Amino acid sequence: MSRPRESAVYTHGHHESVLRSHTWRTAANSAAYLLGSLKPHMRILDIGCGPGTITADLAALVPDGQVTGVDRAPEILARARATAAERGLANVDFAVADVHALDYPDDTFCVVHAHQVLQHVGDPVQALREMTRVTKPDGFIAVRDSDYAAMTWYPASPGMDDWLDLYRRVARANGGEPDAGRRLKSWALRAGLTDITATSGTWTYSTAEERRWWSELWAERTVASEFARRATRGGHATAQRLRDVAGAWREWGKQEEGWFAVLHGEILCRKR
Ligand SMILES: C[S@@+](CC[C@H](N)C(=O)[O-])C[C@H]1O[C@@H](n2cnc3c(N)ncnc32)[C@H](O)[C@@H]1O
Repeated sequence: MSRPRESAVYTHGHHESVLRSHTWRTAANSAAYLLGSLKPHMRILDIGCGPGTITADLAALVPDGQVTGVDRAPEILARARATAAERGLANVDFAVADVHALDYPDDTFCVVHAHQVLQHVGDPVQALREMTRVTKPDGFIAVRDSDYAAMTWYPASPGMDDWLDLYRRVARANGGEPDAGRRLKSWALRAGLTDITATSGTWTYSTAEERRWWSELWAERTVASEFARRATRGGHATAQRLRDVAGAWREWGKQEEGWFAVLHGEILCRKR
C-alpha cells in the first residue's frame, strides 16, 4: 500500500548516535550560503530544527530579531530549548509544526530556513509552497540538503557501498528522497519560486579524529537507531547484514588514507 504523500517517516529518529552529528552542526558549517543575507533585526523560522544548534547560531546572528525553531517531533524540542538556554539566548522560541501546513499567517518571516529536512518529507514541493507563503515579500527561503548518491569516499569499501544502497532504499520506503540535494532547484521551480540561487556545499571528514567520529556514529546508527529498526522491520536487511555494514564503517575509519565527502545542494530563494 502506498503511503499518503505527506506522512513520510523521519528515517534517522533521534537516537544519541544521530544527535551526535546534528549537534556538531553550526550556522558556519551548515548555512554559510545564507549568512551574507542576514540582518540583525530579522525574524527567522527554522523548520525541522532538531536539537537546535543551528537555530541558536542564527539567533546570535540576529540579536535585534527573533528566531522560531519548529519540528514535527515534540521530544526533540526540550533539547533545542536547553541548547538556547545554555547559550543565554533570549530571542529564540520553539514549537511543534509540520512543514506541510504551518500555523503562521502569510508574510510573517524575513527568512524561512530548513537544513536537512526536505529529504525526509513526503511532499517537498508543498513544503516549499508553505515555506514561501509564510515568508514576507522580498524575504528569503533557504534550504540545504545532502545528496546521498553523490557521497563519495576513499578507499573503496564494498561494505560501505552496501550501506549506501541500503540507506537509500530505506529512506525511500519511508517516503523520503535521499538524493534531495540535486533536486532542490527543481522542487523550488515547481513550487512557483522564480528568484533562485542554487549552490552546493560540502562537509569533508579526513583527520584521524574526524574519521573516528564520522565512522563511529554511522556504525552505531546502522545497528541502533531508528534506521536499523526500519531496515530490519521493512525486510531490507537482516541484523547480521547491519552488523557487517557497521564493521565496514569501523574498518574505513581506521584507515589513515581515509577521506569522506558529503555533497549538499543549497537554494537561496527570494520571494517575489
Ligand atoms: C536531519 S534532522 C535536521 C535537524 C537540524 N535542522 C540540523 O540540521 O541539525 C531533520 C529534522 O526534521 C524533522 N522533520 C521531519 N519531517 C518534518 C516535517 N514534516 N515537518 C517538520 N519537521 C520535520 C525531524 O523531526 C528532524 O528533527
